[in-house]
Amino acid sequence: MDWITSKKCDAATAAEMIQNGDVLGVSGFTLAGYPKAVPSAVAARAEKLHEAGTEFQITLFAGASTGDSCDGALARAKAMKLRMPYQSNPSLRKGINDGSIDYIDAHLGKMGYLVRTGAVAAPTVAIIEVSAILPDGRVCLSTSGGNSVCYLEMAPKIILELNTRLGDSCVGMHDNALPELPPHARPLAIYSAGDRVGEEFVRIDPNKVIAIVENDGFDEVTPFVEPDEISRNIGERILDFIRFEEKSGRLPKGMAYQSGVGKVANAVLCAMADDDRLGQIDLFTEVIQEAVLPLLKKGKLGVASGTALTLSESAQREFVQNAEQWKKHFVLRQQEVSNSPDLIRRVGVISMNTALEADIFGNVNSSLVCGSAMMNGIGGSADFARHCALGFFLTPSVAKGGAISSIVPYVSHVDHTEHDTQIFVTEQGLADLRGLPSEERARLIIKNCVHPDFREPLTDFLEFSLKHAKGVHMPVALSRAFEMHLRFLETGKML
Ligand code: COA
Repeated sequence: MDWITSKKCDAATAAEMIQNGDVLGVSGFTLAGYPKAVPSAVAARAEKLHEAGTEFQITLFAGASTGDSCDGALARAKAMKLRMPYQSNPSLRKGINDGSIDYIDAHLGKMGYLVRTGAVAAPTVAIIEVSAILPDGRVCLSTSGGNSVCYLEMAPKIILELNTRLGDSCVGMHDNALPELPPHARPLAIYSAGDRVGEEFVRIDPNKVIAIVENDGFDEVTPFVEPDEISRNIGERILDFIRFEEKSGRLPKGMAYQSGVGKVANAVLCAMADDDRLGQIDLFTEVIQEAVLPLLKKGKLGVASGTALTLSESAQREFVQNAEQWKKHFVLRQQEVSNSPDLIRRVGVISMNTALEADIFGNVNSSLVCGSAMMNGIGGSADFARHCALGFFLTPSVAKGGAISSIVPYVSHVDHTEHDTQIFVTEQGLADLRGLPSEERARLIIKNCVHPDFREPLTDFLEFSLKHAKGVHMPVALSRAFEMHLRFLETGKML
């Protein structure tokens, strides 16, 4: 019997090979390309063991978030002790916020480096979804690159999940390479979004493979919804600004775009597809969201380089059907490469990420509601925000029906400092903070981006701070910095 056939088993059998305390390094990035059968079998096994009074918990490392059958099932089964580096699952979020699951929210571009250098534990078992396994020990990854090459290299044991639905639709899309480790690491020769420096397949040691399990599942991505009016408005403002910058000679043509996760980021891509004045564009991004398909269908997509192709079920079917024509437009990289600061600077990226809240000085909170309750995580937003050529943070001006202002006196948690952010956009308008001192930034952001209901309290905070803060270089009166958050916690409204 050949090695592939000899390792085939069902998910429950593979789950028996996982031990209490194992560190699982799984494929998957923002709901694309995660293992769909073994993690839920591990969750079922954990439930049985817990009923019998036996301790069983694992640590889960992935590329970013995974689907409910992985993150959700393991969280609900109380099988997860620690999660890293990103998540977006409601059950997992609940466990993180009630303290039953530890979570380390890390820069996505750095996770593989932390594992490869031994700063965090190497996975004891890698569970990787693949779309093909070749007899000579090469595998083709599925719909994401993530940290899969790193986990396959570092883990002493490997479980492969072969997704039989994908056929050869992913072959030719991946460019598997990892940056050399310092000191004196040589640069990867990537200068444009479409450049390739790695291998289509990943070579693994068949002796490390302990099980091969088949699945025919879809990535559990929620159906694409057309952008609402506010998101569209934000998208159009960004495009107008980019056009203005190009006309003014401050922005060379040919920059690639990065678009973050969430509905507003999707809307920007939709606005690009609908804008007849916009020519062909490239993406050098992390997550390639479904809104890229309208660009592709209108002939406006050059190359989309990223680490995950995150499509709803209907779009996944469409992709498999059209893969032969479409896949030449996509390059899936390992996240240490897609999010590499070196490459983001070299390629030249216009970056667009969504803020949970921002303050009048330009600090951004992407992750923690009222400074303590985890939403998703920082993701790769800082990898791009800090190293991009032109950087936007987007947010509707209010949340929760107007109870919350997305622009606050001072952010309740800092993911992106005012040193790293550039331009803010809400449906109210746009504030370009580049080159402005603190007080001018604050006045501009209040005038252009804040919802009318919140302009007065924010101006009042600024004037008070100019009189009472210890210094006026950064006029923040600590006594009132969190007054809007505190009022929200007490009354449910910031006003
Ligand atoms: N305070 C409290 N809650 C807020 C809020 C605020 N200032 N702003 C938004 N919210 C709530 C919304 O009401 C919504 O809640 P609901 O799920 O109960 O309806 C939720 O946060 C999500 O907001 P939504 O407006 O639907 O935004 P989104 O889908 O565009 O996501 C982020 C916004 C910030 C959560 C998302 O972009 C994210 O996780 N970013 C961090 C990671 C990242 O940027 N990755 C990209 C890197 S390449």
